[in-house]
Amino acid sequence: MKRNLITLVLAAGKGTRFKSDKIKVLHPMLGKPMIHLVVDCMHALRPESVFVVVGHQKDEVMQEKYSKPVQFIHQKKQLGTAHAVLAAKKILQSNREKDLLVINGDLTLIRPETLRPMIKKHRKENNALTFLSGEMVDPTGFGRVTYHENNVIRIFEEKDATPAQRRIKEVNVGVYLFKIKDLLEALLKISNKNIKGEFYLTDIIEIMSGKEGKVGVYKAPVEQEIVGINDRYELAKAVEILRKRKIISLAESGVTICDPATTWIDLDVKIGRDTTIYSSVVLEEKTKIGRGCKLYPFVHVRNSRVADDVKILTSTVIEESTIERGAQVGPFTHLRPKSIIKAGAKVGNFVEMKNTVFGRGSKAGHLSYLGDSDIRDNVNIGAGTITCNYDGKKKHKTVIDEGAFIGSGTELVAPVKIGKDSYVGAGSTITKNVSSGALAVSRSKQVEKPGWGRKKGKK
Ligand code: UD1
Ligand code: CA
Repeated sequence: MKRNLITLVLAAGKGTRFKSDKIKVLHPMLGKPMIHLVVDCMHALRPESVFVVVGHQKDEVMQEKYSKPVQFIHQKKQLGTAHAVLAAKKILQSNREKDLLVINGDLTLIRPETLRPMIKKHRKENNALTFLSGEMVDPTGFGRVTYHENNVIRIFEEKDATPAQRRIKEVNVGVYLFKIKDLLEALLKISNKNIKGEFYLTDIIEIMSGKEGKVGVYKAPVEQEIVGINDRYELAKAVEILRKRKIISLAESGVTICDPATTWIDLDVKIGRDTTIYSSVVLEEKTKIGRGCKLYPFVHVRNSRVADDVKILTSTVIEESTIERGAQVGPFTHLRPKSIIKAGAKVGNFVEMKNTVFGRGSKAGHLSYLGDSDIRDNVNIGAGTITCNYDGKKKHKTVIDEGAFIGSGTELVAPVKIGKDSYVGAGSTITKNVSSGALAVSRSKQVEKPGWGRKKGKK
């Protein structure tokens, strides 16, 4: 743990430029709401505690499930970034001898590796304040850093800046590290005399730099990391950076990504080594893929577990399901939630499954719907088999015991149980249980009228 360090994430603002009913920091980036990325980065610095300033939609922000403990501070009115820090006054007063790292809630691309040397510099130089700056090719929207006599540093917000100041490329990133006792003193001196009528945290830089205690600037080495996300196009650009980062880290860990440009993998997805991901694959939420798997083009997996050596063929959708070792799914299969494909099973062309266990070595090759079913090992499901699980009011269960053979075009009207090693003749509509080892056929008998076709032809 980094002793004497506490962190504060500013996340009370609405994010007006998003033009959304949802607060900005809850918009997801590769499956994770923005706030989590910033909070996780804070935790990676191992501070004593992580605080988040909340305001707009505070209940929603507080209800998120965070990976590690977070404490919340309520900023009732959003009167600016300095006002947001002031909302934490009580906490600051009881931690006067510590350091406080403040970060804007929309700085989701910053990595802890970038912040660690900043903390080091701050402590080594014994600064009252160290803030993060960066050189931007296009600094539009950022506060610009200006240097004056007597070591005074001032930030000019875009809206308050002159045209000459706007040409300055060095920007204020939105990460500040304070000695808390100096911060408390300076906070009282901030005014809201600016174009937005807000209490700017950035004004503190001028106030503190004019004084004895030193203000240091730490320049971020990577421009990519320091973009704030103020509108949805900036969000899209930032997501693109994260997407590439994720793909690079997977590739480095031994996953073959055939076409990085079209592959979408959420941040929490895990993939084992020697797995191959073909083009246009989308893997979402907490999906886990084992080793040695092959995921062919247009596979879409959401929140599922896939064991080792599994093949998922083209254009298959898998949601909240489990696929065990060595199974094969697809092409054109849809596994809806709570499907479990056991080891070595095969589910193929145009098969839809829902809330179904599909036993070891069982096969459903073509055109089936299997819902609310318990299908045991080594079962063969013929083409066009349908479980009729819904009677208009309730869902019912179908059980198909080990080794059973279901002929093509069968309807299994649930609730129904098909016994072990039994046979169901093709084209049957099964409404009653079938005993083990039996053959059940239920279809109208074929009739033949000799010569009928020829007679018909003469008419
Ligand atoms: C801020 C900085 C600017 C910097 C830029 C970098 C100020 C005055 N300006 O501008 O110098 O270049 O970030 O991205 O700080 N917030 C609150 N309560 C409030 C107001 C804001 O919690 O009353 C939060 C917001 O939710 C947001 C963060 O503070 O997460 C920053 O606010 P934002 O409005 O995005 O500031 P910028 O205009 O981007
Ligand atoms: Ca911002």
